[in-house]
Amino acid sequence: MNNKYAVLGDPIDHSWSPFIHKSFAKQFALSFEYEKIKVAKGTLSHILPMLLSRSYLGFNITVPLKQEAYKLAILKKWHLSERAVKAESINTLLFRNNEVVADNTDGVGLFRNLEHHGIAKITNGNVLILGAGGAARGILPMFQKKKFRKVTVVNRGISNLEQLSAIFRSEHFDYLTIDNLNAQFTNSNHIEGEFLKFDLIINATSASIGDININIPNKLFAGCPLAVDLFYSSEPTLFMKFASMSGAKNVVDGLGMLVEQAAESFYIWTNYRPSTNEILKTIRFEMLNK
Ligand code: ATR
Repeated sequence: MNNKYAVLGDPIDHSWSPFIHKSFAKQFALSFEYEKIKVAKGTLSHILPMLLSRSYLGFNITVPLKQEAYKLAILKKWHLSERAVKAESINTLLFRNNEVVADNTDGVGLFRNLEHHGIAKITNGNVLILGAGGAARGILPMFQKKKFRKVTVVNRGISNLEQLSAIFRSEHFDYLTIDNLNAQFTNSNHIEGEFLKFDLIINATSASIGDININIPNKLFAGCPLAVDLFYSSEPTLFMKFASMSGAKNVVDGLGMLVEQAAESFYIWTNYRPSTNEILKTIRFEMLNK
């Protein structure tokens, strides 16, 4: 039986997705093929129809193609999940009975991983999300669904921030530029205020990719129960180091989310729900020993 899948993105050479999905398949003794295919930004609409004719059952879509895939899904009138529509971004495609189903498992992946780090205790708390690009879009639908007390989205520039605030409108959501945040912070009237105490701080910017510091006050992290960088590498990111040094109690990277969002994609494709713990440990070990 045909059981071919692939991840599409650029760069793609170092993707862990083939290892993760093949490990999931082993858990259920499924015969399963999974490839990585380099697809440059702007070329998905040419490449995908070609790949569709080669009997793949599904794809993962990764950086920088998630929003491009969404636009293509709209154009081709594919079936879109509600969370993909909210995020305007796609990371999973499934082909079934001549129909294409487009979904986004990033938000679920983040929350499954956060559950391992005590999110249940802070579901009624204040959340700070740094960044308003594609990564933030992918996770915001879950924050809307889970009903936190306040979700504050902070971004460097105004353009992405305005786009996001038009999509995710809610009395529970606030939108600020980094400059606004810094200005509020230096205003002594606010320092003791609830506004600046966050129970969860998430770095959804791409700053960690370039090993760049984000210009935010270190006091934000004092006593913060959980700080999360959606990025991961063998070393803690600058954001993670900054959060730890500034008093965050627990700091995690995005590797757990990567494995969990993959598990959700795998479930969509196969109806099997894989366990993730051992795979996460193996990747962590491999990354450290490379
Ligand atoms: P991704 O898909 O990884 O989210 P993106 O859509 O290009 O990539 O968005 C990158 C995000 O990181 C944006 O929110 C960007 O801020 P701007 O909207 O102002 O460009 C943010 N970002 C990138 N580098 C940053 C830095 N050095 N400091 C703060 N924010 C940064």
